[in-house]
Amino acid sequence: AIRKAMVAGNWKMNGSLELVKQMSDAINNVKSKKIDVVLFPPFPLVSALIASGVSTGTQTISEYKPGAFTGEVDAQLVKDLGAEYVLVGHSERRSIYNESNSTVAEKFSRAQQVGLTPILCVGESESEQENGKTELVVAAQIDAVIEKLGVAALKDSVIAYEPVWAIGTGKTASPEQAQNVHKFIRDKIAALDSDLAQGLTILYGGSVNEKNSELLFAQTDIDGGLIGGASLKADSFSAICESAK
Ligand code: G3H
Repeated sequence: AIRKAMVAGNWKMNGSLELVKQMSDAINNVKSKKIDVVLFPPFPLVSALIASGVSTGTQTISEYKPGAFTGEVDAQLVKDLGAEYVLVGHSERRSIYNESNSTVAEKFSRAQQVGLTPILCVGESESEQENGKTELVVAAQIDAVIEKLGVAALKDSVIAYEPVWAIGTGKTASPEQAQNVHKFIRDKIAALDSDLAQGLTILYGGSVNEKNSELLFAQTDIDGGLIGGASLKADSFSAICESAK
């Protein structure tokens, strides 16, 4: 592959110190130069995971600089603790916490300001998919970032395509379906900057498991996965990492 594969595990609001121990042991075993493995635990587990030697990101950050924002977490702080990545615009943040495309673009910008690599999550809902709006929705989610920051900002970022209908449902996009959207994303960005688009890591997320990961990751424009449920089980997650090598 032209691009190095990445396997990212999003724990969502799950996990424990015990899981940090189990998963770090498992990941330290499968680590290889061929793949980047990153975990996104809840904030209170970030330091423990980093201390265990696992590359770590957070599931969100504030778009603001430090100040009177009770309950929010500053990007600079997590960067100082040793985090490397942050998810922005995960569909659960968009739908449950009403994050708009423009808030997501602000978080993306704040992440890069402090040197965290943003993983921009995009994807259509079930009804949007049924109405043939997938490309429209995904394009608007990416354009919000390009319009605010310019296409060059995508250079130090990752995109994760996660069709909302596939998240936590056991209903994975077929490798062909996912490849089509990944190609659409890469072509769209290539129209503005072809080298950047060729180097851009685009992950697939949505009910990835150890049985379907190999075929998904074999697609030309799929550079790895963003794993939810299966990132909570050491044997499944290790097997998914192996399939990306
Ligand atoms: O961030 C991860 C995605 O939401 C996928 O979750 O693998 O449980 O479907 P899932």
